[in-house]
Amino acid sequence: MATINVALIGQGFMGRSHSNAWGQVAKFFHPPLTPIMHTVFGQAEENPQSFAANWGWKYASTNWEQLVKSPEIGLVDIVTPNYMHAPIAKAAIAAGKPVCCEKPIAGTLDDARDMVQAAKAAKVKTFVWFNYRRCPAVALAHQLVKQGKLGEIRHVRAVYLQDWASEAVPLLWRFDKNLAGSGAHGDLNAHIVDMTRFVTGQEITEVAGAIVETFIKERTLPAGIATGGIAQGRSGAEGKGRVTVDDAVLFLARFSGGAVASFEAARQATGNQNRNAFELNGTKGALRFDFERMNELQFYDATLPRAVQGWSTIMCTHGGDHPYVANWWPDAHIIGYEHGFTNQAYDILKSLAGEAPTVPLPDFEDAYQTQRVLEAALKSACEHRPVKIEEVK
Ligand SMILES: NC(=O)c1ccc[n+]([C@@H]2O[C@H](COP(=O)([O-])OP(=O)(O)OC[C@H]3O[C@@H](n4cnc5c(N)ncnc54)[C@H](O)[C@@H]3O)[C@@H](O)[C@H]2O)c1
Repeated sequence: MATINVALIGQGFMGRSHSNAWGQVAKFFHPPLTPIMHTVFGQAEENPQSFAANWGWKYASTNWEQLVKSPEIGLVDIVTPNYMHAPIAKAAIAAGKPVCCEKPIAGTLDDARDMVQAAKAAKVKTFVWFNYRRCPAVALAHQLVKQGKLGEIRHVRAVYLQDWASEAVPLLWRFDKNLAGSGAHGDLNAHIVDMTRFVTGQEITEVAGAIVETFIKERTLPAGIATGGIAQGRSGAEGKGRVTVDDAVLFLARFSGGAVASFEAARQATGNQNRNAFELNGTKGALRFDFERMNELQFYDATLPRAVQGWSTIMCTHGGDHPYVANWWPDAHIIGYEHGFTNQAYDILKSLAGEAPTVPLPDFEDAYQTQRVLEAALKSACEHRPVKIEEVK
C-alpha cells in the first residue's frame, strides 16, 4: 500500500477541518495513496501535543521551518493566516515537497505570483482548498454546464454573505491587512470567483463598479488564542486597534463567454450566516445553488414545453449519479460542510498518484487567476473605473 506522510501547518478552524479530512479519506474513498497523519504544527500556546492526540497526528511541532524540510514529510498542507502562506509554501517547495494551501492563495498578488513561479521552477504539484467545488451540487452544476444544459450563459450572480463580524468581535487576524491581505474580499469573494469560474468553465475578463466598505473601523484587541471557530475563544482585552480591511466588497464583471456578472461579499449581512450562493441564467436553462441548502441544486430547463417549465430541486445525494456521494452514505442520506474537504483530500491523493481528479482541482496557477480578479476589483474601487484582467499581472 503506497502511503504519503502529511504535515499540517496550523491548527485552528481549518486545522480541524483538514485533520478530519485526512483522517476520514482513506476510510471512505480508498485512494491510490494513503495519507499518514504525520506531524501537526501549532504555536506553543495552542498546545499542539493535545491537538495531535485528539485528531490522530503522530507528532506535534512548534517549528514549521524545520518541519517542512524534514525528509519524513511527503506533503505539506498550509492552514495558517494568509500572510504566512507564501513563506511556508516557498520553503516546502524549495525542499521539493508538493503543497496544498488554504484560500486565498495569498494575502497579496505579489505573494501569489511568487508562489506560482516557485512551484513552476521546482515542478512540484500544488493544490488550493477551494472546497466548495467539491460539494456534490456544485460539482454537478459544473458537469451540467459542460454538457451544454444551460446553452449560452448570459448572467452570473454570486454572493457570499455572512453575519458574524459584529462590534463584539475583537481584532482577529482577519481584520488586519498585514496578516489577511483583505477582509470579506479575500475571504469570501475568493470562493465565489473561484466557484463561478469553475462552474461556467470561463474566465473573468473585466471588473467594474467595485465598492469597498469598512463599517467598523476599530475593534478591541484580542485576548486568548483561536479555538477552532472564526471568532470563538477570542474575547476582547484592554485597548483598541484599527481595522485595516474591508467588511464588504461588491463588484460587476464580464466573463469570457459574454456573460455579465455581479459579486458581493459581506460579513455583516444580518440574517445570512453562510450564504454562499450563485445563480446562472443561460439560453437553454438556469441553475441556482445556496450553501445553506448544500445538498440541493435547482435547475430550470427552458427546453421543456412552456406549460411545464419551472424550477426543479435536485437532491444531490444519489450515488453513481452525483459526484462523490457513492462513497458516503446510502442514497438520500445527506452530507455536510466537512465532506467537501474530504472529497478534496481524495482528489489531491489521486492527483499525486497521477490519476485525474473527479472534477478539476485548483492549483497555484488557477488560484492566481482568481487573485488577479480580486486585485482588479480593488483597483476598480480605488480608481473608479473598469479594469481589464489583462492589466493585472
Ligand atoms: N476553505 C474554507 O472554506 C476556509 C474557511 C476558513 C478559513 N480558511 C482559510 O484557512 C486559513 C486559516 O484560517 P483559520 O480559520 O483556520 O484560522 P485560525 O485563526 O482558526 O487558525 C490559524 C492557525 O494558524 C496559526 N497561526 C496564526 N498566526 C500565526 C503565526 N504568526 N505564527 C504561527 N502560527 C500562526 C494559529 O495558531 C492557528 O493554528 C486562512 O487562509 C483562511 O482564509 C478557509
